[in-house]
Amino acid sequence: MSINIFKLEEYLSKYEFSAPYLLCCSDAESFSMQEIIDMAEPNEKALWDNLRLSYTEATGLPTLREQIAKSLYPTLDASNILCFAGAEDGIFCALHTIAEPGDNFIVLTPCYQSLSEIPKLKGAEITEIALLEENDWRIDVGEIKKAIKPNTKCITINFPHNPTGQVISQQELNDLITLCAAHDLWLFSDEVYRLLGAPHEGWAQPAAEIYTKALSLGVMSKAFGMAGLRVGWIACQNKELLKKIEYMKHYTSICNSAPSEVISLIVLKNKDYILSRNNQIVTENLKLLDAFMEEHQNLFDWVRPQGGCVGFVKYKGHDHIENFCERLVKEKGVLLMPASIYDHKSNHFRVGFGRKNMPQALDRLKEFLS
Ligand SMILES: Cc1ncc(COP(=O)(O)O)c(C=O)c1O
Repeated sequence: MSINIFKLEEYLSKYEFSAPYLLCCSDAESFSMQEIIDMAEPNEKALWDNLRLSYTEATGLPTLREQIAKSLYPTLDASNILCFAGAEDGIFCALHTIAEPGDNFIVLTPCYQSLSEIPKLKGAEITEIALLEENDWRIDVGEIKKAIKPNTKCITINFPHNPTGQVISQQELNDLITLCAAHDLWLFSDEVYRLLGAPHEGWAQPAAEIYTKALSLGVMSKAFGMAGLRVGWIACQNKELLKKIEYMKHYTSICNSAPSEVISLIVLKNKDYILSRNNQIVTENLKLLDAFMEEHQNLFDWVRPQGGCVGFVKYKGHDHIENFCERLVKEKGVLLMPASIYDHKSNHFRVGFGRKNMPQALDRLKEFLS
């Protein structure tokens, strides 16, 4: 079975390294490698200086797995963590392992394409449940309940959500987990944007901490702003499943990059500082976006994002959003992402506000509008 083109990656590969103002990025501002190395404690510095560039352990550097558990999933331990070359490798390996022909997967849309594409590749059928703007893009557990079929095997969620920036509350997650447990379903919870932003009700716990059949997907790319490391992980209480997923990883990346593992370890040890810097950038940028939305109410509207660093804006102009985005990038070098990239039939676009140069990109957008 052939796989469909990943529209978002195709779009970014066309513009990401040529458009000077990326106003749709989904990651926080990066750090330089030297800045991270300078944060290292003497033992990590020694690890870095003496690092051999050989293969690493397929499951991930043991001290890194320990640190991931300690920093992000305190009720779990290293044996519950499996590392990958980015979150994408984790999505591929996990969903390819869980899905079998004839299974049903429930996926919330719009969604990051690989979350629905990989089960399809294995011959699973997908039931899409649309997140609705009139419902503030929030999960509707009642709709999911109605969609469950005898062959449903897994529910896939992604909160904070790409592209809307909406979050899941603890109550909504608990209700979803009760539903999954009642039907013995896997819950694949893509949490790559977790800890970036300020949800009104605080952060829901990672799903893997509270449900034995949940997989929590995490990564260095988004909240930490270190996509170039290509280090991601899955946290899961079910070690039998983790083993099977590891067998799949033997066919994709085999193991992580050795330097990236050590840098990720240093980053996680300095998690509070790094997240607070990134959250500050996001908070300041959101204030500018609030003012922008207020000023241009005739043209734009949105449900203000609560988590992550992307939001889904409705364009109320007369032309199609694809034309608008194309003209904007050609004339002003500012990149937005139209809804069609998510197969979403609307005049929305994704805006990103995790980067330091977002104010300059927004100024260029304002110039374009005037
Ligand atoms: C929801 C979601 N999951 C997974 C990924 C993949 O992350 P990575 O690039 O770190 O592999 C992305 C990247 O945009 C994403 O938005």
